[in-house]
Amino acid sequence: MCGIVGYVGRENAVPVLLEGLQRLEYRGYDSAGVAVIKNGALRVHKAEGRVRDLSEGLPKRVAGPIGIAHTRWATHGPPSDVNSHPHLDTAGNVAVVHNGILENADALRAELEAEGVEFASDTDTEVLAHLIGRSEQQELEEAVREALYKVGGTYGLAVVDARHPDRIVIARNGSPVVIGIGAREMYVASDVAALVRHTQQVVLLDDGELATLTADGFTTQMMDRRPTTKETLELDADVSSYDKGGYDHYLRKEIADQPSAVAGTLRGRLDQRFSTAHLGGIELSARELRGIRRVKILGCGSAYYSGIVGADLIESLARLPADAEPASEFRYRNPVIDPDTLYLAVSQSGETFDTLAAVQEVQRKGGRVLGVVNVVGSSIARACEGGVYIHAGPEVSVASTKAFTSTAVAFALIALHIGRVRDLSPADGERLIGGLERLPEQLAQIMETEDHVAQVAQRFSAASSAFFIGRVGGYPVALEGAQKLKEVSYVHAEAYPASELKHGPLALITPELPTIVVAPDDHLVDKNRSAMEQIKARGGPVVAVGHRAFAGLADDTLLVPKNEPELDPILLGIPLQLLAYHAALVLGRDVDQPRNLAKSVTVE
Ligand code: AGP
Repeated sequence: MCGIVGYVGRENAVPVLLEGLQRLEYRGYDSAGVAVIKNGALRVHKAEGRVRDLSEGLPKRVAGPIGIAHTRWATHGPPSDVNSHPHLDTAGNVAVVHNGILENADALRAELEAEGVEFASDTDTEVLAHLIGRSEQQELEEAVREALYKVGGTYGLAVVDARHPDRIVIARNGSPVVIGIGAREMYVASDVAALVRHTQQVVLLDDGELATLTADGFTTQMMDRRPTTKETLELDADVSSYDKGGYDHYLRKEIADQPSAVAGTLRGRLDQRFSTAHLGGIELSARELRGIRRVKILGCGSAYYSGIVGADLIESLARLPADAEPASEFRYRNPVIDPDTLYLAVSQSGETFDTLAAVQEVQRKGGRVLGVVNVVGSSIARACEGGVYIHAGPEVSVASTKAFTSTAVAFALIALHIGRVRDLSPADGERLIGGLERLPEQLAQIMETEDHVAQVAQRFSAASSAFFIGRVGGYPVALEGAQKLKEVSYVHAEAYPASELKHGPLALITPELPTIVVAPDDHLVDKNRSAMEQIKARGGPVVAVGHRAFAGLADDTLLVPKNEPELDPILLGIPLQLLAYHAALVLGRDVDQPRNLAKSVTVE
């Protein structure tokens, strides 16, 4: 969704701002803009469309040693030049870029209009620009603070003012803001992806904090003016982590990254001696772990589906009742929060608004939440009382692939860890460790089947709809397979438990509707075979994903190597990622930035 970049230093800010905006393109946006100050004058350029359109039309006079820039994802008002950020006050001194939503913007707009202010855009953000511009405070920090006391809602924002041309004032409430520390220059961004080319030293702003950046440094304080002390973090990702690495698309690169991503998730966490997993972020004693009566996993979209894989793993290995629920629904049903339940919040970005809100709801009612998160230092990671980083590396493509797989692996580690303080035997622990260690190599083997998957994808690209079915551990694989096909190829896809087929969806089976059957060699293989028979009997094409060909039943089988039965779902999903990717290529889709979607959904 929206992205912020800012620079103050001695160089021309514009190349830094444009490069930063390009790094944020993956988040999804519809327009972009930049504002710089030179010789005491604010210069602004905005454009609907891509960052490329913005930079191609950028007048030479838009240059200067301090500036802010933005990619916008429309919330208030349609995508357009005028609605794109930065937004200005009437006098044209103040420029504001803002991520988040101001909930009382309509009321404040009405008040300002009654005082004679004319608005240029439909946005909530413009309210802030006018409030700051009309403030009688002498200091920019004070004017920003005064304005922020009037607004409700969420924000990550950056403000420049031509009357204070040496500083950027930034603030955070519910939407990330990161300071980048350079040599006699300072950066700000909503996402470290925009900073890694310039610095590895970052400072994360907390909710309720304001900061002032000048070329020589920064100061931070809370809204009530209490100064805060900040820790500088060293980023473990460099600029190459955000490149395509020779592939045509981030999605393809991230699918190929999976052997190393999973190796990263496992690194240093397997303990052969005690046949368990070590997870430094779970600071619960064996006694506390034994006291847990239930596990509830909360996440959205693919993170939720990985949570279903996780719930299956925890239930089967730790013998604890476990289930997953969409975090986006959770707080609206006024859930009973049980002190004996361990809540796990799953998120690649760590910034998904609904998941963060679910975490806060659990905590408000006294529950304990741990995170299963990819982005270190993200809002969800910081809101939880510890947890497990999945260490998959940066995921840029909107459609999640390696983060999904690494999250499932992280759940296997959690299940092993809890299982071994409960009833999982050392022999089973050892067996699972062996299986986990085989995963990177087996993931690499699946990549070698890509040509075959690409042929099957041709057929899916011609279909207007597809079914994905599976049973128990295969069901979340089917859900995620359907999700990938929908997201990147726009082919309609639905997932069902295979057992549900005859309770309704079978009515839709025709020769035009292909079904993917997730059919590992497990205790349910005969049930899956019978589902294939039912589909074939009605003329429906069948593609199986499993460990053996289903001659006479499946038109094609996407084969994966066999691991331990509990871990097989982790591998079964990989051919479905390749299938979606190749179907999208055939259909000429925007693989990395599918229409209407954003990488990190920071609004409700
Ligand atoms: C996955 O392909 C999707 N882009 C989406 O469902 C995503 O998983 C969901 O929005 C949750 O994101 P998060 O993991 O960053 O919280």
